[in-house]
Amino acid sequence: MNDHVQVERNAGLVTLRLNRPEKKNSLTNAMYGQLAEALRSADADSSVRAVLITGGDDCFTSGNDVADFLQNPPRDMSSNVFHFMLALFEFSKPVVAAVCGPAVGIGTTLLLHCDLVYTQRDALLRMPFVNLGLCPEFGSSLILPQMLGHAKAAELLLLGESFSGAQAAQWGIANQALEDSQATHAKALEMAMRFVQLPPSALADSKRLMRSPDRQKLREVIEEEGALFCKRLHSPEAREAMTAFMQRRQPDFSQFS
Ligand code: COA
Repeated sequence: MNDHVQVERNAGLVTLRLNRPEKKNSLTNAMYGQLAEALRSADADSSVRAVLITGGDDCFTSGNDVADFLQNPPRDMSSNVFHFMLALFEFSKPVVAAVCGPAVGIGTTLLLHCDLVYTQRDALLRMPFVNLGLCPEFGSSLILPQMLGHAKAAELLLLGESFSGAQAAQWGIANQALEDSQATHAKALEMAMRFVQLPPSALADSKRLMRSPDRQKLREVIEEEGALFCKRLHSPEAREAMTAFMQRRQPDFSQFS
């Protein structure tokens, strides 16, 4: 077992720290498994009151490991990435995220399932699914148009436009954008510890109520996106885009109809 996901426990707060800096905290199949397991254990442990997700000072996560996508792509909803998505989607306690540096792909979409999000002002968020020959995931094709309107969501999901932590806060994807990584971590920790002090059942009931109206629909969308995503991973467009990323060149889609 590697330490690419560090799980720390402190007074009712579990911190999940992505720790693969040499690959910009990109997420492997094994890391998704570790994250899912840590979330399920934290949910089952009544002494855990909240979870904080962070990637450290320089990078939140560059998203799914692209080499893993090429060599060991997820096949269906039984894959670890979907175990992780469902563990976060179904998590009954508050989740806080601290985002510094790049948050790409699932690094951005997972934030849509957290309760509070704090970003460094110049964090770089991006969902380049179409750019990689893929499609939106983790409910983002439903949540973002609802949250931002179709036009803005199309810039982010169809063009794969980058945006900053400051913009994420302006648009309501994050609660607040802070000056630097130290302030971001301090704020996220302060708010997570406030959750730890609150009555746990009232918090869980309230979170469930806030999330319930679209829950069934959202679950269906996550599955529909997931099935298409897995299929698209094998498409010539995706293979070209991902191979180009690994070879540090621009992809060429001119031969595809
Ligand atoms: N999967 C696999 N490897 C990745 C990765 C990913 N998602 N993101 C970064 N890496 C690797 C790079 O290949 C490089 O490895 P090397 O040193 O062995 O060549 C190393 O991490 C450093 O990345 P690099 O791109 O040189 O760092 P950067 O600071 O210039 O850029 C990012 C950082 C995050 C902006 C850039 O790596 C990026 O855009 N990655 C996103 C990949 C992506 O499209 N993810 C979405 C998947 S759905």
